[in-house]
Amino acid sequence: METAEIARRFLAFFENNGHTVVPSASLVAEDPTLLLVNAGMVPFKPYFLGQRTPPYQRATSAQKCVRTIDIDEVGKTSRHASFFQMLGNFSFGDYFKEQAVPLAWRLLTDSTADGGFGFDPERLWVTVFHDDDEAETLWRERVGVPAARIQRRGMADNFWSMGVPGPCGPCSEIYYDRGPEYGADGGPVADENRYLEVWNLVFMQFERGAGGGKDDFPILGDLPKKNIDTGMGLERMAAILQGVDNIYETDTLGRVLHRAAELTGTRYGDDERSDVSLRVVADHMRTATMLVSDGVRPGNEKRGYVLRRILRRSVRNLRLLSGDDRALLHDLTATAIDAMADQYPSLRADADSIHGVIDAEEKNFADTLRSGTALFARAAEKTRAAGGTTFSGTDAFQLHDTYGFPIDLTLEMAGEQGLTVDEDAFRALMQQQKDTAKRDAKAKKLGNADIGVYARLLDGSGATEFLGYTDHEAESRVLGLIVDGADAAVARAGDRVEVVLDRTPFYAESGGQLADRGTLTADGRGTVDVDDVQKPIAGLFVHRGTVRSGEIAVDDRVHALIDTDRRASISRSHSATHLIHSALRNALGPSAGQAGSENRPGGLRFDFTANSGLTPAALGEVEEEVNTVLAGDIQVRDFQTTLDEALSMGALAMFGEKYGDRVRVVEMSDYSRELCGGTHVGATGQLGIVKLLGESSVGSGVRRVEAAVGLDAFRRLSKESLLVGRLSEQLKAPREELPERIDAMVARLRGAEKEIERLRAAQVLQAAAGLAEGAREHGGVRVVAHQAPDGTAGDDLRRLALDVRDRLGGDRPAVVAVAAVPKDRPVVVIAVNAPARDTGLKAGDLVGVAARALGGGGGGKPDVAQGGGTDPAAVPAALRSVEERVARGA
Ligand code: ALA
Repeated sequence: METAEIARRFLAFFENNGHTVVPSASLVAEDPTLLLVNAGMVPFKPYFLGQRTPPYQRATSAQKCVRTIDIDEVGKTSRHASFFQMLGNFSFGDYFKEQAVPLAWRLLTDSTADGGFGFDPERLWVTVFHDDDEAETLWRERVGVPAARIQRRGMADNFWSMGVPGPCGPCSEIYYDRGPEYGADGGPVADENRYLEVWNLVFMQFERGAGGGKDDFPILGDLPKKNIDTGMGLERMAAILQGVDNIYETDTLGRVLHRAAELTGTRYGDDERSDVSLRVVADHMRTATMLVSDGVRPGNEKRGYVLRRILRRSVRNLRLLSGDDRALLHDLTATAIDAMADQYPSLRADADSIHGVIDAEEKNFADTLRSGTALFARAAEKTRAAGGTTFSGTDAFQLHDTYGFPIDLTLEMAGEQGLTVDEDAFRALMQQQKDTAKRDAKAKKLGNADIGVYARLLDGSGATEFLGYTDHEAESRVLGLIVDGADAAVARAGDRVEVVLDRTPFYAESGGQLADRGTLTADGRGTVDVDDVQKPIAGLFVHRGTVRSGEIAVDDRVHALIDTDRRASISRSHSATHLIHSALRNALGPSAGQAGSENRPGGLRFDFTANSGLTPAALGEVEEEVNTVLAGDIQVRDFQTTLDEALSMGALAMFGEKYGDRVRVVEMSDYSRELCGGTHVGATGQLGIVKLLGESSVGSGVRRVEAAVGLDAFRRLSKESLLVGRLSEQLKAPREELPERIDAMVARLRGAEKEIERLRAAQVLQAAAGLAEGAREHGGVRVVAHQAPDGTAGDDLRRLALDVRDRLGGDRPAVVAVAAVPKDRPVVVIAVNAPARDTGLKAGDLVGVAARALGGGGGGKPDVAQGGGTDPAAVPAALRSVEERVARGA
């Protein structure tokens, strides 16, 4: 049975049993306690906790999940995958164990003709939590599982939680016996490879707190209701129903695995080590594809790091397999897209953008490897030269900071050379850097605020009505106030406050458009200056600001008024963004997908996916096209329609973004059509002028253009024009001739600098003959100790020292010491000829003597060495000390 069919069958069974089919949520969790969705129940967490009222009492879903905690197990066992899909049925205070148990049994054991999975009941085992008699009785009496195939287990195995605070409860798991060829008898407690877990039924009834391990976390109390949460691993089911040994050989992952074997010229099944690599690549490439399609971008933190790490592990495993460094990710991404598109058709539509991100990261990593490997080798050499086996945390940090080497790559490469890494020191440095960054960042966004406060407000009063498409002011009522993160009845002058209104003209920051600012005035009571508006949960507008005077209280009537100039300017920027998006796609093709934007007063930035930069000429064309279109004064129209309808009209959707069924489309005749909730001008002529300010890379296949719009654009152009006017006056050249004039000047300047350099070197060397003649004798060693004029460069000193040494010849011992103050610190160079070295005089030692006198240090080889210090006045003394040292003999 194909993977897609298994999912379809599961959902159909529960739909027939009164469950609402809920589409998979994005892998990017809305839950601030999680990086990525890691279980089917995650999107439903607020329903279990009673924070939100569920729109249905029974639900079923096939949820995309990513778990990387076991990433090192991937490929080594038959059942660990970093991406998997969890089939589940959920009851929110509706049915409990008494129905969950028989429903699961029926679906597993009903014949395939009857819509079930057709399992032989004799091969199924179950486990229950050690004191859950109720569950055991249900299995025995309601379903008829013999007591011998029911096993009891403790908290670590049969009590499920998310690993973080949230809902939890005892669980009961169903296992499939693959037969004696897979391991020992004795049920799941004896062998989890032979007895494969297929389904976990969680009786969700408690809330857990923070801290503790897998089997000893604190339980805070009962949930408001008793719930059901189940999870069946789709990949494991596919392995069983397709009669293959492990999940990597099922219909979807198997395709990626075999393609990887083909590309690397290996054969699956030939060799355990390369089999593990092939499984890792198959798993990771699918995970990466799914993450990118949900909008995750490679980075050095959090989700971005998860993605970067699995892509880099893929590259390293592919290099191990093939023995060369060909770029293979593109091909494997295409295979993963093909394999998964049956279940996730949007993968095909997003293919160009997905490739853009993954290709760029692969190239980026290849560059990183090239440049970082040299630094790594030097640091490893240094470690060994010092007789150590521990690579320092500072070096690991530098590799990370300068070359983007993830720590696990450094660990791996160090391991290959028999070195360990001082990880604690590395982490301490990382933490230091983070703390600094945090202090610097303004605490503007939501952080980890408890969404419970907002959820209660939304549940109590419903969504905020947004009037701002048409109105700039409104009479509204205060529904809630939040001060210091908690509900408040009133806020007074000077307080920072968050205000929730029943209706508002204020646009909340979203879709790249910055929030409106303005005032809320309660007649005769007080005024709040609003400086930011956010939607911490969908539908709820939160106005943040400071009470300027008086006070404001819940239930007050307020006059809400936005800063209309700011809004008009932001709207111009937003419309300009749409035009630039279309022009870029016209120039680069449809792979130039939007990856983010910021529309602010007077300007914008627009991020898009592309593998390489735009040439200045191409950028000029984009700018010209945008300005031509806006001069055409096209009407800007918006309308609501269904998502399908909008997409079939060719409306552009933001890659990785989630949309509801009804969407708003903003259209500028046929030139631009986008799904967009933002505010815009009435006609493009209002933009006046759009000036692109340049284009740059913001990492991993994402490019950024910045632009000034309207009056801001005009001011910039006008300023630049004045500047060119001044230059033309200063250089006494017409404007058009400025570039050639400057080129000529720069060329002349370079020539003159070279000439000065040559003359200075000649001058220094001129002294050489005289110096050699003036050499003094100390116990058979001729010594020259000379202070060159201030400003003599270190290189020239070196040349001088060598020249004098050559003139002194190689028959008798000679030592040359020259020093100077190139800028404000003294430098000394010592050259020693071979006969002097034979007597034991070494340049490195002598430079040490001089440098100490200069208040510094230095060293080097026995024949020439250089050092320096901090005290320019000590140069004569330093030279004397060298001479004295020679006089004392080696
Ligand atoms: N939430 C349960 C699990 O992830 C079903 O195993």
